Parts: sequence; C-alpha cells; structure tokens
Amino acid sequence: MSETARLRRARVARIYDAGDTTVLLGPDGRAHQLHAESAQLARVVLGFLLQPRSPREVVAHVEALSGAALGEGSVVDQLLGLLLDAGAIERFEPDSAPAAPASPPRHDRVVLCLAGGVAAMHAPAMVARLLDRGFEVRVAATKNALRFVSAYALERLVHRPVAQDLYEGETAVPHIDLAAWADAVLVWPATATTLSRLATGNFDSIVSAVALATAAPVIIAPSMNAGMYARAAVQRNIEQLARDGLHVIHPSFGIEVADPPLDRPRKLGPAPPIEVVVQMLETALALRRAGTRVTPRSGAEWDQVYASERPERLPWYTDRVDDDLLASFERLAPRHALVLDIGTGLGTMAVAAAERGHRVVATDLSGRALEDARRRSPELSVLWLEDDITNTRRRSSFDIAVDRGCLHLLTPDAAARYAENLATLLAPGGHLLLKTHATEEGDRHGTMPHTAETLARLFGSAFEIVEDHASTFPGPAQAPAARLFVLRRA
Ligand SMILES: Cc1cc2nc3c(=O)[nH]c(=O)nc-3n(C[C@H](O)[C@H](O)[C@H](O)COP(=O)(O)O)c2cc1C
Repeated sequence: MSETARLRRARVARIYDAGDTTVLLGPDGRAHQLHAESAQLARVVLGFLLQPRSPREVVAHVEALSGAALGEGSVVDQLLGLLLDAGAIERFEPDSAPAAPASPPRHDRVVLCLAGGVAAMHAPAMVARLLDRGFEVRVAATKNALRFVSAYALERLVHRPVAQDLYEGETAVPHIDLAAWADAVLVWPATATTLSRLATGNFDSIVSAVALATAAPVIIAPSMNAGMYARAAVQRNIEQLARDGLHVIHPSFGIEVADPPLDRPRKLGPAPPIEVVVQMLETALALRRAGTRVTPRSGAEWDQVYASERPERLPWYTDRVDDDLLASFERLAPRHALVLDIGTGLGTMAVAAAERGHRVVATDLSGRALEDARRRSPELSVLWLEDDITNTRRRSSFDIAVDRGCLHLLTPDAAARYAENLATLLAPGGHLLLKTHATEEGDRHGTMPHTAETLARLFGSAFEIVEDHASTFPGPAQAPAARLFVLRRA
C-alpha cells in the first residue's frame, strides 16, 4: 500500500459489533469475523479513519495507544488490507476522485403528488432522495395516499404542510398555488384512479388538480398490480396522458402486496425504484432545457416540440393576446378584415381576431399545434392551415397580417423569402403587425431579433415601417424584451 495514499472509513460500510466480535460484510457477500484484540484494533482504526489519514499515520496512532513499536508488515498493515477488501474503508484521493454524478440545477421546485398506491408507504424515502438531489420539495397527497404514509413524517422532512384538500390548506387556493410554484410535478405512485382523473381532466383530488393545473412538466409514474396495469382502460389513459404531453414512466417488475408475503413472483406493474424515478425526472427536465435552445425548422420538428411539452408551458404561450398587439390590431384592422395569423401556434391571436368578427386564416408549420388550436375553439370559423410562410401556397390578398415571434426564428435566407411572400400576400395599404425579440434577447434565446434598420433592408420598398415600440413577450415564466413594429404595404 502506498505510504502517500490516504484512507478513510467508507461512506456506507457494512459492519456490526457483537460482544468482542466485529463482523465486516464484504461486497461479495462474505462475512469476515474479527475477535477479541483484532476486533478492538479494527474498532480503533475505523474510528481513527473517520478523517482521511495515511497508513503511516494509522500506524503511528496505534503505536501511540499501545506504547509498542510496529514493524514492516505489522498487524495494522494486514488489517488495513482486510478493511479495504471488505469495503469498510476506501482510498481517498480528492484530486483524482471520480466526479460526483451531475446534479440537477440547484433547488428546482418539485411538487411530489402521492396517490393511494401501496408504494406511497415509501414516500419519505422519495422525499429524502429528491432533497438529496437538490430539489426543493412540497408534497400533495390524496386521502388514500395518506392511508399508506403519515403526513406527519412527510411534514418533518419538508417543513411544510402536506396539501390534502382543494378547499383547505396553507393558502387560499392550494392546487393553483402549488401548480404555479412548481418547476416540475411528479405524480408517484400514480394509481389507476389518478391516471383516469388526469386523462379525463377530473380535478376532484388535490393530486389531479395540481397536475392538471400546472404549466410545469408533469412526470407520471404509474404503479399498480399487473392485472390493473394490463387493463385496456388503464392503457388507454396512459396513452392519452403521453399524447397530452405528460411524461409517463414505464413500470418495472416488482411484487404485489395482494400475493402471500412468502410467495411474491415479480410482475410488471409497480413503478421503478425511487432512484430511477428521480433520474427520469431529472432527464425530463434536462432534455426540456436542451430542447428549447435549438430552433426547430421543419413541421415535424415543431410537432415534436408541441408533443414534448404541455402547451401552456411553452415559453411563448399566452392565453390572451398581448395588450399592445391587440390594441394595434383593433386600431388598424378594417371591419370584417381578412386576417393572416402567421405561426399561429395554439391560435390565441387567431381566436381573438375571429371573436371580433374578422375572417381569419391561421397558419403554422406544426399540424399538431393546429389540431390543438382547432380543438380549443371548435365553434369559431378560423381556417387552420399547415403552411410555411417562407414557401407559402397562399394566394389571398390579406388586409392585415400578425406575426408574434415567427420572423426572429428564421435564418437570413428564409427571412428574405418571408419578406417576398408578405409583399404578395398583403393588399396595398394593408398592415403587418410584427413582434420580434429585442436585440439583447437574441443570444439568450438563440433568435435573430430585428430592428427598424434590419427590417427596412429586409422589406425594401415594399413596406414602410410606420411604428416601432418597446414591448415584451409575456409567457408562462418570463416576459423577454421585444419590439413591436407596424409595417404598411406600399
Ligand atoms: C392495500 C392496497 C394497495 C393498493 N395499491 C394500489 C396500487 O399500487 N396502485 C393502484 O393503482 N391502486 C392501488 N390500490 C387501490 C387504490 O387505493 C384505489 O384505487 C384508490 O381509488 C386510489 O385513489 P387515489 O388515486 O385518489 O389515491 C390499492 C388498494 C389497497 C387496499
């Protein structure tokens, strides 16, 4: 053993003392028994190695205690070899130590939603794991979940009350407040009943209400017995949830409490172990962050964006048109105007225009977004069309066009085609309302913001820039700075 390497007591060691015997359980499952003086020596050395020390320091320590000099290959050297083999001590080399597993960004906020599955009895271990990984945790639980675990235990861990009810709790409207607080919602264990509530939009438990109300990513870990899991109704609900943009974890093979305690073959249905569920949660958050940095180009890529996230959580989502955009629109749109909404997404602008009696053509690259938009407002007569504004098939002559955050996603070539097409699509005297990121936001969002100068170059003499206002892009989490331009077709 090198004299310079340092040793320390293993962070997790399998050791017990009984009378004058010390038992070390090795990683191979073999038990090493030390008796009498050997056991005493092991206990001294293990105590001394709670701090990292070199073998020489260990020998010096034992010599000082015993008052005897120890030579080469002494009992201490042999004992250190045995303790290392048994995993009771480990080499401590801070500089070359393997990097700790990547931590999630510190203190992402997770609402752990417990439903009444048997796995809820392990909820304190789940909370401890989440805290250990750096998450700030709050807990919501159905009445049935609290048959399996005590709110008292969970509250000792998180130092907050467990939300148990929509109508009573820490705040006036607990489910909405928790939903807004969350960076992520983890429904674990998700029972068949809770899956059904989530798939059908049923808010009558605190757990389903938080998970349905939040704009944060929702990670669902179904957990139930094999028979329940295989039911067509349960599978239908699981498929629906994945289609709705929730992250649904596949189950593992595990035990069923309905089987006799000594005869429990492993069957597919229970959620994976706690550490795996937490890894999936971290993965979902990391992929989501990485995904938002790359600008999708094709319809298929945009479809993926809309499929991977609850629409309300997308950074550009708003449930009402930005005040300044709407004010400009109302001022400039003639009565019963023919309106083009470019990159309509979930159709907020298109719907507002249709509600004001205009005829609206709403286009987007993503068929999925259009389908969603159509489903949200089926009674309104908007023409929802899959179309690429940089290569459009439209030929109508529009009175007004609106672009909230589309142009700044385009490459310079595509932006040039966009400008050419708009010159064809807008009637003389018609207006283009255009919102782009302000210059300082470009780097942060990977977009190409515009200024009055760049727009003048892009549109040439086809358009006149008649207004240029400071603005923002209100979204679910933040409101990056923007410019709102009004251009008139010459
Ligand atoms: C001992 C026992 C264990 C249960 N374990 C599960 C389970 O793991 N998964 C599940 O979906 N339902 C399980 N159930 C049934 C649920 O508790 C029941 O469907 C309940 O309606 C769930 O309500 P909740 O989703 O509002 O908590 C279990 C029931 C009992 C009595």
